[in-house]
Amino acid sequence: MIGVFDSGYGGLTILRAFLDNLSEYDYFYLGDSARTPYGNKSLNTIYEYTRQAVAFLFNQGAILIILACNTASAKALRRIQQEWLPIHYPDRRVLGVVIPLAEAAVEASRYGRIGVIGTRATIESRVYEQELHKLDAGLKIYSQACPLLVPLVEEDWVGKPETNMILKKYLHPLKSKRIDSLILGCTHYPFLKKGITRIMGKNCHVMDAPRIVAEKLADYLKRHPEIEQRLEKKGRYIFVTSDDPKRFKAFGDKFLGRRITDVQNISF
Ligand code: DGL
Repeated sequence: MIGVFDSGYGGLTILRAFLDNLSEYDYFYLGDSARTPYGNKSLNTIYEYTRQAVAFLFNQGAILIILACNTASAKALRRIQQEWLPIHYPDRRVLGVVIPLAEAAVEASRYGRIGVIGTRATIESRVYEQELHKLDAGLKIYSQACPLLVPLVEEDWVGKPETNMILKKYLHPLKSKRIDSLILGCTHYPFLKKGITRIMGKNCHVMDAPRIVAEKLADYLKRHPEIEQRLEKKGRYIFVTSDDPKRFKAFGDKFLGRRITDVQNISF
């Protein structure tokens, strides 16, 4: 199966794109809702929580894990890939969302002026800058932490005047730099895409992160038959949360865009 990990419900936006485009595979979604948000936590805490989640998913039989969470991808992925995985599961893989989004941004950008928005932890990690500059050292990159956006989405404040005002405040510095592509570097931001697109105007391409991550996963699976052939393909999916399953279900239906029937609970 493919494990999908997020700090909470947000990664269901990514799983939704997987179910739409790669429906034949089995998925195991883990949301660490008891310890969310990760976006304001320290490097060591994010690493330790993510490592526990990855170990849990491998223990359940995942062959490949996607860190749908930008914060975990930014702060924990490299260390897991380089230090932990080779010792514990050398024949399995963990991938994140940063490289796929960086690659797609470079493909979409016309003038090499790219904006990135995300949680405080993601932006402070500067991982998007690093990955984008690996692809093209001449890019101009402008980043903005938007810590208020996750709670606004979770409280269902999308489209409210207060939310649009906060969006304008966050996006204004990027708009004034005349960016031509904007990376939505957080699981929750696809819900705000309409408002963000309106504010950024027609000269800025606001990227559809879940679709991009799903396309890049399909491409990865084509290039790695040794992993692809080991994945079960019965179109099944399982949801597990570290917090109350009822609450997960209530939020999850919205994020996944379809009804979640069964959610199990685990504690770390
Ligand atoms: N899933 C996180 C991300 O994509 C947002 C929520 C959190 O801060 O945990 O960065």
